[in-house]
Amino acid sequence: MKKSILSIALLATLPSVAQLKASVTLDNESAKQTINKEIYGQFAEHLGSCIYGGIWVGEDSSIPNTNGYRNDVLKALKELKVPVLRWPGGCFADEYHWTDGIGPKENRPVMVNNNWGGTVEDNSFGTHEFLNLCEMLGCEPYISGNVGSGTVEELAKWVEYMTSESGSPMAKLRKENGREKPWHVKYLGVGNESWGCGGTMRPEYYGDLFRRYSTYCREYDGNKLYKIASGASDYDYDWTETLMKNVGTRMNGLSLHYYTVKGWDGSKGSATKFTNDEYYWTLGKAIEIESVVKKHIDIMDKYDPEKKVGLLVDEWGTWWDVEPGTNPGHLFQQNTMRDAFVASMTLDIFHKYTDRVKMTNIAQIINVLQSMILTKGNLMALTPTYYVFKMYSVHQDATYVPVKVQCERMAADGDRIVPYLSATASRDKNGVVHISLSNTSLDQKEEVTINLDGLKVKSVAGEVLTAGCVDDFNSFENPELVSTKKFDGAKITKNGLVVTMPKMSIVTLELK
Ligand code: AHR
Repeated sequence: MKKSILSIALLATLPSVAQLKASVTLDNESAKQTINKEIYGQFAEHLGSCIYGGIWVGEDSSIPNTNGYRNDVLKALKELKVPVLRWPGGCFADEYHWTDGIGPKENRPVMVNNNWGGTVEDNSFGTHEFLNLCEMLGCEPYISGNVGSGTVEELAKWVEYMTSESGSPMAKLRKENGREKPWHVKYLGVGNESWGCGGTMRPEYYGDLFRRYSTYCREYDGNKLYKIASGASDYDYDWTETLMKNVGTRMNGLSLHYYTVKGWDGSKGSATKFTNDEYYWTLGKAIEIESVVKKHIDIMDKYDPEKKVGLLVDEWGTWWDVEPGTNPGHLFQQNTMRDAFVASMTLDIFHKYTDRVKMTNIAQIINVLQSMILTKGNLMALTPTYYVFKMYSVHQDATYVPVKVQCERMAADGDRIVPYLSATASRDKNGVVHISLSNTSLDQKEEVTINLDGLKVKSVAGEVLTAGCVDDFNSFENPELVSTKKFDGAKITKNGLVVTMPKMSIVTLELK
């Protein structure tokens, strides 16, 4: 990686030795909130090769598959413990007509994916294929309904088709299509980005549409729905204000989209070629999500102090230029240690707001933006971000243990301050405590002293994700260049737990 010649102003003087010092203090008494496992949610859109080629290859494919789903991908996703999967979009959702994706495959009409490169799709992956996949993965489905170009009746009937037990016309149709029992579907998105690709609406108008569409999405045979309104983009606090004022607790959840992106016009920068300055800028932009989430939460608190309405960050992650030579409409990008830090630091932040943040969905699960998995033909590579999600899966549904972090920080481009240490902790149902730490420094080790706040610990084990260079990535030729290894840099001492972290590393410790 090219060393930047632009100066980086240090807020605190760096020690002369090539080692940083930091401390983390647990607050066990204040550990009360559960880290909703849905914070580890994923997003799968009909975009590029996320669905077709990434998840679904069809039963006749030469790529090893189970009923049309790639075996390698299924295995990797099961190991990731995906709690919830959002589908079919994104922007795609507001042009998707679900009836085109049911029944015998040879009768399904083809469609043009207008949002994403004009690709022609054969609708062979539809409602049955998605909901069966969720059952195979043991995750909750999150259906994103069409409000932009679909009717109230269409959405109402989709809910009936998926969840009604028997006796209704849509249940009859589902049975004719081979599925006797309804699926369990809890999460229902009523439109996506309704301020943009989902209909270019004003918040007042969309709020009324939400009230209207959601009225007719019935709860059949004990299937409880969690209805999610299309929320704001990044800093659009007016959207949240208007929705909270006009819809309030009629919605169960309100979404928010936040991408770590340089800007929407022109180049977004390469996923794999960047300077040190660009690396730190990226981390600064990623953790800015904390102030954004806080401001949206403050607005929600004003109208809903009991926190009945969840905030769902149902799209987040890095957005770079597509890989050279790939279709610009398919958003296929590589993934380095830089992306891994965006993931770990963002998850650390989400844990803090778990009383309001009920779900998040990184964009996207395979072959699109900040993916877990990349595929090319029959080849597959797991990304550094995949390994962060896997290491962090121990925090799912555990009790959040607040932490106080003291560390050196630096000023990246603009006003963004980047800490050299990010941390989070949780206690699982067996009393095992997990602590995740990210040393963001590109060139210095970090000695982290952890004050356990009275916690008695007999043993400590860990895993580490690091790389030779921050721009290392897992290619199809070298798919395991960046992956987790056993970590033995943590020692129990009389002053607490002392962890020596390699430069540019992410560690998860298990304390028993
Ligand atoms: O994730 C890619 C796109 O980003 C989604 O389709 C859309 O909702 C957002 O603008």
